[in-house]
Amino acid sequence: PKERGWLVSHIYNYQGFWIAPRLLQGVIACQQQFQAQDSDIILVTTPKSGTTWLKSLLFVLVNRAKYPIFQQTHPLFINNPHDLVPFLELKLYSDGRVPDFSSFTSPRLLSTHLPFASLPKSVQHSTTKLVYLCRNPRDTFISLWHFSNNLKLDHTDVNSMEEMFHLFCKGVAIYGPFWNHVLDYWKQSIEKPNKVLFLMYEEIKDQPKIQLKRLAEFLECPFSIEEENCGVVDEILKMCSFQNLSKLEVNTNGKLSSGEENKIFFRRGEVGDWKNYFTVEMSEKLNHVIQQKFQGSGLRFYYI
Ligand code: A3P
Repeated sequence: PKERGWLVSHIYNYQGFWIAPRLLQGVIACQQQFQAQDSDIILVTTPKSGTTWLKSLLFVLVNRAKYPIFQQTHPLFINNPHDLVPFLELKLYSDGRVPDFSSFTSPRLLSTHLPFASLPKSVQHSTTKLVYLCRNPRDTFISLWHFSNNLKLDHTDVNSMEEMFHLFCKGVAIYGPFWNHVLDYWKQSIEKPNKVLFLMYEEIKDQPKIQLKRLAEFLECPFSIEEENCGVVDEILKMCSFQNLSKLEVNTNGKLSSGEENKIFFRRGEVGDWKNYFTVEMSEKLNHVIQQKFQGSGLRFYYI
């Protein structure tokens, strides 16, 4: 069937989550063929929850000995973060074949949008670390709506917000239902805190230094006292900020190897943009769904 953009009505349920047919080949190949290494670090997100930002932070943080921060030749200044921390199913395995990992150094930095239950078995059975990032569902939805319409793979019609919102609330969104995705990783982070770190976009915005240090400790590359005294934490945050990344030449004019324009990954980068779009009815409806789904989980979203 004709796909309308990346999302909405022509996505299909596979293993309990929603995916576009053209992406399925990569998903299956990755599930069947990916062999995780114990030292791998895999960033997991629902689409539009800040993947690009966390890819940058992760890359700069983990490689800070190899690539001194703020050096003009730093890979972050000349590559889109999605090329530095590639998606397993959307990039490396997208053509259904086993990718060449020979250029990767250890620890390999990888990413995926796959729900926990659909991760390749070797990820679950290794000591691979998973860094999960989630974002409040209202901003995630608005970001998703913009992104899907910007992609417009068939370059024809756009997804109406009403239709897309209605489906999102029913759980029908790419890689959704949103709540299943988030809750599964939330539970894993409680059960296996050494394996899964659960981060929130709003918390990184609110307490960037605390959250970056948390990430460094989880990845067993904590900041030394000297680094802290020299302002390394602040420098990494500045380097990966929306203001800095969105202005880079590579992110204004470049394209990913899969064809998407790099600039579509940088829109506003704020908490609370949903207020410019949501009606009272939309807020009430989504609140109701979120309350039902997250009741008793101990997880709370921040909307401002
Ligand atoms: P908005 O559409 O709300 O602006 P993803 O990377 O998962 O595709 O998510 C994209 C969202 O993250 C977009 O949100 C984008 O603007 C925002 N984003 C990208 N880079 C960012 C950064 N460095 N800091 C904060 N937000 C960023």
